[in-house]
Amino acid sequence: MTEDRLTIATDLARQAGALLREGYDQVTEVNYKGEIDLITEFDLRSEQLLVKGIQQAFPNDAIMAEEKGLVGEGEHCWFIDPLDGTTNFAHGIPIFVISLAFAQGSQPLLGVIYDPMRDELFHATIDGGAWLNDRRLHVSAATTLNESLLSTGFPYDMRTNPDNNLDHFARLILQSRGVRRLGAAALDLAYVASGRFDGYWEMRLWPWDWGAGLLMVKEAGGLVTRIDGGEEVFAEPTSILATNGHIHDEMIAVLNSK
Ligand code: IPD
Ligand code: CA
Ligand code: CA
Repeated sequence: MTEDRLTIATDLARQAGALLREGYDQVTEVNYKGEIDLITEFDLRSEQLLVKGIQQAFPNDAIMAEEKGLVGEGEHCWFIDPLDGTTNFAHGIPIFVISLAFAQGSQPLLGVIYDPMRDELFHATIDGGAWLNDRRLHVSAATTLNESLLSTGFPYDMRTNPDNNLDHFARLILQSRGVRRLGAAALDLAYVASGRFDGYWEMRLWPWDWGAGLLMVKEAGGLVTRIDGGEEVFAEPTSILATNGHIHDEMIAVLNSK
């Protein structure tokens, strides 16, 4: 069941990737979902390609796609982010991915994250490990925050909601080797799985942002919880803390200190 879906998901991610690679420096029109929350025609075209492909191959699966919402119903559901990193994409910055997860209830069974500009295809299946192209992935070995490179992102309502991650950022940047902000949550998670980052946290993410990456980090030997340490992440939206496991408690302590 998962093997067939993995084949289709990787094939569709590559097709959507080709579409985004061709389109990324040709964005002519940008629309707004919120004050700083952008959408381009490529978010929609990529989503259309992915949803159509999944519906054709697996007509009984439900699909939760970022722009379209929920299509169908049932225990087996795909979570699709057709373009994670829209702000980068709209500004001609080549850091964006496609993220596809397939879950049974709240358990992701497979995840595919494709970075078309570097031709890096990350995938994970439950109990099958996490992979970057043909290479098995393992989280990093860093044991302290002091030797860790972190990543984060900021919520689109950061101007109006005071719970906007700036306090966490200020504390963690002073206690780590640095905090990057890639602008693509799914890629942040894939980078934790591949050991490039030691830890990543963000607030108010949706299942299409983290569905694939959560499985990838776990299959690479890491740990994923909410930033308060709670294990239930299927609430929408949720905070996410993903680390190599070794620095998890240290990060929770800093994230929850005043
Ligand atoms: C966003 C990106 C960004 C993160 C936001 C996400 P989008 O997704 O992943 O890095 O900080 O929270 O919503 O809108 O580009 O798909
Ligand atoms: Ca996203
Ligand atoms: Ca998106």
